[in-house]
Amino acid sequence: MRCLNFGSLNIDMVYTVGHCVTPGETESADNLEYFPGGKGLNQSIALAKAGAEVYHAGSVGKDGGILINELKNNGVDTSFINTTDCPNGHAVIQVDKNGQNSILVFGGANHQITSAQIDRVLNEFSQSDRLFLQNEINAVGEIIDKAYERNIEIVFNPSPFTEKIMNYPLEKISWFVVNETEAYRITGETQTEKIFEIFKNRYPGSNILLTLGENGAYCFYNGEKYFHPIYNTSVVDTTAAGDTFLGFFFANLDSLGVSMSLKTASAAAGIAVSTKGASPSIPTLGEVEEFLRSK
Ligand code: RIB
Repeated sequence: MRCLNFGSLNIDMVYTVGHCVTPGETESADNLEYFPGGKGLNQSIALAKAGAEVYHAGSVGKDGGILINELKNNGVDTSFINTTDCPNGHAVIQVDKNGQNSILVFGGANHQITSAQIDRVLNEFSQSDRLFLQNEINAVGEIIDKAYERNIEIVFNPSPFTEKIMNYPLEKISWFVVNETEAYRITGETQTEKIFEIFKNRYPGSNILLTLGENGAYCFYNGEKYFHPIYNTSVVDTTAAGDTFLGFFFANLDSLGVSMSLKTASAAAGIAVSTKGASPSIPTLGEVEEFLRSK
């Protein structure tokens, strides 16, 4: 199975701060670093590092070479990325002394996806492939419709959550990957059982991967519930931990099954939070296997 990720590519401007700035407050940052990021790019790299065959579709600005090279250097096919006149998407990220973050995203070139590009890309894929989507590009609803028409299985990570998502054809989604906030915004519930119940009733046939930060991750797959706790590591920067989890889970799912994929994904996310930056913090499969052997 090939993985097609139609997703965002961002330059992450990461500010190290004592605490994340609150409304009306001015705070001095201790440090500024630039990293390749974006939920789309991070997830493509995580899938590829975990061993999947990955194709990234999206859009960058004229100075987007650094983002394309980051994908290429990690084994991701970039032939479906368009270059536009728009500035690159970017994110302003504050990381506090506990490794927690707050993120402001500017869509830029990520919002230049056209119907022609969608058709050109999807025509190259079929029902034996899996499509990954997040909510940082435009035309997500159109991509869902057109992929579904071609019987391509769709994995949707509704992040960052916006009310617009509730108007997408969510009944066409095979897998929802949500954290507690996104699950609450979609279902109005905070309890795991109730969240699964609502997804099951509203979107029958869909599977759910629910990540709960330090409380571990649940998966509801074909009517069965699975759980894996987190691995405790020293938290330096949580940026891209969810993206890493998603990539390692789906890269291994078909060969290893749900339980082992949850374990591998939890280990990968544990390593990611102990390293700075988005894509640079994503471990290789070898590093994850070594980490698991040490447990
Ligand atoms: O999930 C982390 C990502 O969210 C960052 O890399 C940033 O670009 C934002 O899109």
